[in-house]
Amino acid sequence: VGPDVIDIRKLYGQTGKFTYDPGFLSTASCNSTITYIDGDKGELLYRGYPIEQLATNCDFLETCYLLLNGELPNQSQKDEFVGRVTNHTMVNEQMQFFLRGFRRDAHPMAVLTGLVGALSAFYHDSTDINNPEHRKIAAIRLIAKMPTLVAMAYKYSIGQPFVYPKNDLSYSGNFLRMMFATPCEEYKVNPVLERALDRIFILHADHEQNASTSTVRLCGSSGTNPFAAIAAGVACLWGPAHGGANEACLNMLEEIQAMGGMSKVGEFMEKVKDKNSGVRLMGFGHRVYKNYDPRAKLMQETCNEVLAELGLENDPLFALAKKLEQIALEDDYFVQRKLYPNVDFYSGIVQRAIGIPVPLFTAIFALARTVGWIAQLDEMIGDPEYKIGRPRQLFVGAAKRDVAPIASR
Ligand code: ACO
Repeated sequence: VGPDVIDIRKLYGQTGKFTYDPGFLSTASCNSTITYIDGDKGELLYRGYPIEQLATNCDFLETCYLLLNGELPNQSQKDEFVGRVTNHTMVNEQMQFFLRGFRRDAHPMAVLTGLVGALSAFYHDSTDINNPEHRKIAAIRLIAKMPTLVAMAYKYSIGQPFVYPKNDLSYSGNFLRMMFATPCEEYKVNPVLERALDRIFILHADHEQNASTSTVRLCGSSGTNPFAAIAAGVACLWGPAHGGANEACLNMLEEIQAMGGMSKVGEFMEKVKDKNSGVRLMGFGHRVYKNYDPRAKLMQETCNEVLAELGLENDPLFALAKKLEQIALEDDYFVQRKLYPNVDFYSGIVQRAIGIPVPLFTAIFALARTVGWIAQLDEMIGDPEYKIGRPRQLFVGAAKRDVAPIASR
């Protein structure tokens, strides 16, 4: 408990008083050792390591190991961990019958919420959240199976056969192959796209107590199984104010492009600043960052690399995004409110260039965030002070009254 932090339990104890903090703007819900954000400086650390160093020097599975275990792995620890993950990349064959029950035009996040929750019906040896061994196996299973499930949902949506995991590929390479390979031709993983995707996964892996992570903690605090808790996180992430922002951002860029592109940027920004329009600059602003989101910088670099690799340097949406950013950074509306690009501002452009369809963007985010959710869940359950999450309310409804017979209502 630091000088600016009050332990409300000690302050109010059982006296019946409580704080009112809609949106949890100034309420810490837990102690955590996983991720640190300095929103004013625009700094993000996983277990103490700056995100820039992790994104440059590590791959996604090393980052997963770090988030789950607190330390980066040495080579033999990494080999063992990668071996365990690849051992679990397949999903029970019955899962495809469950998947086939969905309409082919279902939103991938609707499908993913169902599939992740359904894992608890297939893997009974990892459903006891209070058993550390069960939590460990559930963590490995979730990290390993998410790419398979997302790729299956995609293949199903376009009517192509499922592609089974190929375990001699990297985590990201395997995902690209499951997404884009067909039985008709050899699929060769492009190393630039593989690295870009891996970086997207690293940048999205955890972000302390955001809405979906808090949902996972709250859901898990009832003692439900890990798969159910992660499914709740997937559902929460879907919203456009959270993980759905990358999809919303790309749709926004496409709309501006359809309106006339560059020549309409000024008009669009006027609409954003008009409070009555209900239009926001998607991919901008953050509850915690009041400076540039460090992930957005890395994502912009990745965007440059991917577009150069694919010969798309003149991509009109990238040009639009850069123009919007340039205007916003010089405009009083954004400067006064400390609104900067967040991770979603450029991630959609990268994903679209890789060939990932827009409705799948949030599912990719869910895939990457799974490790953060499960690490946070594990931390909570392992904390001797943990209790079921149960916020209070200020009741502002009707006073006590009597039920009248239906004929006289
Ligand atoms: N465009 C225009 N105005 C904005 C934007 C935006 N993107 N974001 C915030 N504002 C304005 C608000 O209208 C408000 O103005 P006011 O003080 O005059 O009323 C002020 O900035 C503060 O905004 P709040 O909504 O109160 O900030 P909050 O912390 O609750 O919301 C949020 C943060 C949800 C991210 C918001 O900035 C937003 O909606 N951004 C667009 C969606 C988005 O990109 N979400 C992704 C977040 S990152 C992630 O989940 C990975």
